[in-house]
Amino acid sequence: MPYYRQVGQIPPKRHTQFRRPDGELYAEELMGVEGFSADSALLYHRNLPTAIVDAQAVPEDSRHTTPNLPLKPRHIRTQELKWESPAEVDAVTGRRLLFGNADVRICFAAATCPSPLYRNAAGDELLYVQTGSGVVETIYGALAVGEGDYLVIPTSCTYRVVPGGDGEPMRLLVLEATGHIGPPRRYLSARGQFLEHSPYCERDLRGPTEPLLAEGTDVDVLVRHRAGVTRYTYAHHPFDVVGWDGCLYPWAFNIRDFEPITGRVHQPPPVHQTFEGPNFVVCSFCPRKVDYHPLAVPVPYNHANVDSDELMFYVGGNYEARKGSGIGIGSMSLHPSGCTHGPQPGAVEAALGVDYFDETAVMVDTFRPLELGEAGQACEDPRYAWTWSGRGPERS
Ligand SMILES: [Fe+2]
Repeated sequence: MPYYRQVGQIPPKRHTQFRRPDGELYAEELMGVEGFSADSALLYHRNLPTAIVDAQAVPEDSRHTTPNLPLKPRHIRTQELKWESPAEVDAVTGRRLLFGNADVRICFAAATCPSPLYRNAAGDELLYVQTGSGVVETIYGALAVGEGDYLVIPTSCTYRVVPGGDGEPMRLLVLEATGHIGPPRRYLSARGQFLEHSPYCERDLRGPTEPLLAEGTDVDVLVRHRAGVTRYTYAHHPFDVVGWDGCLYPWAFNIRDFEPITGRVHQPPPVHQTFEGPNFVVCSFCPRKVDYHPLAVPVPYNHANVDSDELMFYVGGNYEARKGSGIGIGSMSLHPSGCTHGPQPGAVEAALGVDYFDETAVMVDTFRPLELGEAGQACEDPRYAWTWSGRGPERS
């Protein structure tokens, strides 16, 4: 995270005695990435964060992925995903795997009840709230989130997701990275400040503002790690941090605060880039004025991303280039490396002279091929690959 934050009580000097009201010492915990050579946060716990009383391996549902064979564009309809008990879906154990590769797993949940306490020790997570609202409670404090929010949760941050009590599910896209997720480096100064050409900056970000304290003994925490999932039982509730400071913490950013970069002619997808992760990027396509050259073609040209797979999640408006394809709100399109893709037939002509696109979409471009998870296969529209020609094998 690019800038320093301080929450709650901390002593004036790090690694010095800091005592609870009863005279006992608070327990320091340094959360640091890349050893001790990059961003970190220093947290002060009421109790020892090391005190575990049990550890159990947890069997997992299928994390298996299937190669995209035959290689073709895919249309996934998350709006048709079903859960066995919709009223008992949580954002951790209820997430289902849409796509994955060695760098990132792309999951979806329609969360209706609080999740267990959880942390991902294998990498950062990026949550995107498609609809609904709730609170994400973390050891750093709580963050209220709602529609359009991205939430970056650093590796090994213990948290849980509590959907709002309005009965509406929190529909969440969840990216589980195998490394760290942050703003694109080209938008940051050498010391981490957002530069003037960045489409968002510090003023758009939200972080925890006060400690979150909970009482409890023998508290379970699910931990995803490189070899699987383990359930730890902690002697004390992990939400016992009275204060912390540093540059490593969960933070939220709403897609509506992304200021689109536009031009006289069509701007390429990197202008929409919002985050970078290990071998993938995340972009935000937001409502915007479009190309203002008098002869501009505002929708994208056909393109072959020879080095990446392109996954687009359609969350608002009506995506101009996909009109007539069957894609709607909640749909995802996968345009893999090896396939040229472009606007649906008629979309180019329909967009000529248009000066505003009312469309919101989240794009994930991965530099290793994406494979399909069980949920991706469960809600696929098999007709999509043939929508440019208007006919496919089932109709020939
Ligand atoms: Fe594309």
